[in-house]
Amino acid sequence: MKPEKPGRFGRFGGRFVPETLMGPLIELEEAYETCRKDPAFQQELDRLLRDYVGRPTPLTPAARLGEELGGLRIHLKREDLCHTGAHKINNTLGQALLARRMGKRRVIAETGAGQHGVASATAAALLDLECVVYMGSEDMARQSLNVTRMRLLGARVVEVAAGSRTLKDAINEAMRDWVTNCAGTHYILGSVLGAHPYPALVRDFQSVIGREARAQYLKTEGRLPDLLVACVGGGSNSLGLFTAFLADEAVEMVGVEAGGEGIAAGRHAARFAGGSPGVLHGTYTFLLQDAAGNIAPTHSVSAGLDYPAVGPEHADLREQGRVRYEIASDVEALDGFRRLARCEGILPALESAHALGWLAAHASRLPQGCRVLVNLSGRGDKDVDQAAARLGVEP
Ligand SMILES: Cc1ncc(COP(=O)(O)O)c(C=O)c1O
Repeated sequence: MKPEKPGRFGRFGGRFVPETLMGPLIELEEAYETCRKDPAFQQELDRLLRDYVGRPTPLTPAARLGEELGGLRIHLKREDLCHTGAHKINNTLGQALLARRMGKRRVIAETGAGQHGVASATAAALLDLECVVYMGSEDMARQSLNVTRMRLLGARVVEVAAGSRTLKDAINEAMRDWVTNCAGTHYILGSVLGAHPYPALVRDFQSVIGREARAQYLKTEGRLPDLLVACVGGGSNSLGLFTAFLADEAVEMVGVEAGGEGIAAGRHAARFAGGSPGVLHGTYTFLLQDAAGNIAPTHSVSAGLDYPAVGPEHADLREQGRVRYEIASDVEALDGFRRLARCEGILPALESAHALGWLAAHASRLPQGCRVLVNLSGRGDKDVDQAAARLGVEP
């Protein structure tokens, strides 16, 4: 869906940045507008998505899981099978091509779970760009496998020890770098966040997920699903899926945020359940903040959902009532992880496990035979140690 005014989604979105970033954002907006309409750019991206990423990713029926959950017809959109193991690569390849078109030889990125950092380092290696990734020290500790992957791919990983030492602080540092070096540097933002044009640009690069899924579902099932479910960190894998179905009024959509250890306990990352509108990292959206507007600490078992803001288009979709936003707790997400592993032989990322955990917790309230399409945004290799420890599995 196109924003009504450039960069606006209803009353959300916009461009709230220091003067020094207006120039680079306008340059990016113009370059993106040109590339979006350029068949040569789109062909090159399509070719990379096919020959390098492995698209189209399959739509896999999850019959045993559906049976265990009381007779649901579940399909999984398998973004876990993308090269590098998550949907993030769709966006980073698009933005790395854009950087090259703009004549920028250096890219920077921020990362929480490490998947966006790995995907940025991968795209940079492929296109021969210098790459620097900012990552909070807390996330570096819980996602050390991905830190090693980025370094092997030739990226420099910069540890951010400020604040909560997670994604929010990594974004602050990346923005600082960009302000200083914008002439030769492109900032590959990892989700549908930040100032215009990022939320629309990242959504467009991820919308391939939904376009494929819709066509695949129609082809194999002869109709559309009843319900789409996807986890919402910044919100890029969910919007990537939802965008293709927004006009299909009969298709319900649920975005699942991280309920952590509970809303009442204040240890969560559920912006819609516990937040209010405000500005963070250049955009007006729902945030976790205190009464004075200070950003509140967040918590999730999954690093990729542990962020105090949500993409502005989600805030608008919620206000329109088009998408419902629900939560899955850490415990429910771990239950989703275990069920998918045992029923289908697939280890999901802990982020994606939130979508599965919500589904398992609410299956009894869905009609028998309900046709559910779950976006499996990534694979669980990076989370194996943490999931095993929490599920009491011996190493
Ligand atoms: C596998 C996976 N899924 C989901 C997310 C959450 O991001 P988004 O909401 O932008 O899809 C992340 C972020 O790191 C991730 O690595």
